[in-house]
Amino acid sequence: KSVDPHTLVIFGASGDLAQRKLIPAVFDLYRGGYLPEKFALLGASRTNMTDEEFRDKVVFNNEHFDRKDCTDEQVAAYAEVLFYQDLASYDGEKDINNLGKRLKKLDKDHGVGSNYIFYLSTPPSLYSTIPPALAKAGLNQTKDGWSRLIVEKPFGYDLATAKQLNEDIQRYFEEDTIYRIDHYLGKETVQNLLVTRFANGFFEPLWNRNYIQSVQITAAETVGVGTRGGYYDGSGALRDMVQNHLLQVLAHVAMEPPIRADAKSIRGEKLKLFQSLRSIKRADVRNHVIRAQYTEGRTKGGDVVSYRDAEGVPEKSNTETYVGMKFFIDNWRWAGVPFFVRTGKCLPLKLTEVVITFKNPPQAIFSEFDNYAMSSDNRLIIRIQPDEGMALEFGMKVPGEGFRVKNVDMDFFYRDLTSNDVPDAYTRLLLDCMKGDPTLYARGDSVEAAWDFVEPILQAWKANEVPLFSYPAGTWGPLQSDALWSGVGDGWRNPSTSLTEKKH
Ligand code: BG6
Repeated sequence: KSVDPHTLVIFGASGDLAQRKLIPAVFDLYRGGYLPEKFALLGASRTNMTDEEFRDKVVFNNEHFDRKDCTDEQVAAYAEVLFYQDLASYDGEKDINNLGKRLKKLDKDHGVGSNYIFYLSTPPSLYSTIPPALAKAGLNQTKDGWSRLIVEKPFGYDLATAKQLNEDIQRYFEEDTIYRIDHYLGKETVQNLLVTRFANGFFEPLWNRNYIQSVQITAAETVGVGTRGGYYDGSGALRDMVQNHLLQVLAHVAMEPPIRADAKSIRGEKLKLFQSLRSIKRADVRNHVIRAQYTEGRTKGGDVVSYRDAEGVPEKSNTETYVGMKFFIDNWRWAGVPFFVRTGKCLPLKLTEVVITFKNPPQAIFSEFDNYAMSSDNRLIIRIQPDEGMALEFGMKVPGEGFRVKNVDMDFFYRDLTSNDVPDAYTRLLLDCMKGDPTLYARGDSVEAAWDFVEPILQAWKANEVPLFSYPAGTWGPLQSDALWSGVGDGWRNPSTSLTEKKH
């Protein structure tokens, strides 16, 4: 699909996300030749700035704006399509009317037409108030163009607020014009999970309860909350990472084959998957979900103060910086297979990976031979980031007498597939929205289904029905998390920096 002429309006354009991700991502599209000839980016926020000052801030003086491999002329030409409109308030009638006038003027001066993308990169409290203001100014459905809305995370705070937000937005925008962003869906390796499963004949027959013993997903981060304590403390790891990013990764690992690779089919299968998650009863939360907070320690970046001592975090905060959980999927494919998910701040490594552990062969005929590894080490490790790729582990004979088995692996690295850098998630997602393809955006019903799954956990935690454990910064989380595996015969894989280096 080609991209129609349009204007991308970024609300919250003087903020951190716009500088770090959005403006650079649009530049990637610009120099890659993906943008239409007639295109404008209109930044809008409460800061008073001229077009020139905006360009200086987000392009010329923006440390996140990467200029390697491009010329000064390219950068200058890009800056020319950036404009700025200040607003006294984001949802005031007069302000939005002014914005409307500015959009008309941009069309008149630059022929960009009346197709609009409105990107909400503001505090979430404005997600419900900007759409009605746009509607009042007639900008949600233009007569001779289209209008789309991109909503940043967090989409809701719990099930009730997510439902309310859907309702508030859907009143003014049709569902297929609402783009709820989850940047994990923009990651090449998350999309590649679908290709791995559905472009190959040999994985799918094994991809079920008959051959798979367990599935684990890890998203580890070395950073603490840094200066984001104010936001993070109201969120915590379950809301910040699990409800959105990790459940999306899970959906790609576990969903049924879609009939086509289009938005309707893929998003329909994801919804079904979320609906098949076995709900964790409030009384069972303590046995299925471990929450913990980091205490002072040392990570790759140096010494770290405890979470409770971080900037913006209340001294007695009970917000979790680590979650480890075990759950099941009640459908034919996955009946009885345990799934494990963990994520945490201040862990030893920054990496995200999926590990599929296959069942043992039905008989262990080589067990008498002093083995290095048992055949239960049949694993497929899918590295989402960094060092993107995958490795398949299996047992081979050690040369010499007897039948000694040693684990070996076959690996594939994304970097061998292309000499180009893997595109940034925001670059890919923005382009899809410009093309009108919502496949890699979260649909309203599945966002609600994902909240529905985490809701009992949030409630049990809020009522302090389960303990909050701790772990020193720089370690793999609380020891209690290992107990989730009891009876499964495997454990959290202790990932190493190298994809294929074996450490269990
Ligand atoms: C964000 C969270 O959505 O994802 C952050 O708010 C987290 O807390 C980040 O650090 C992780 O993203 P990535 O792409 O670095 O794995």
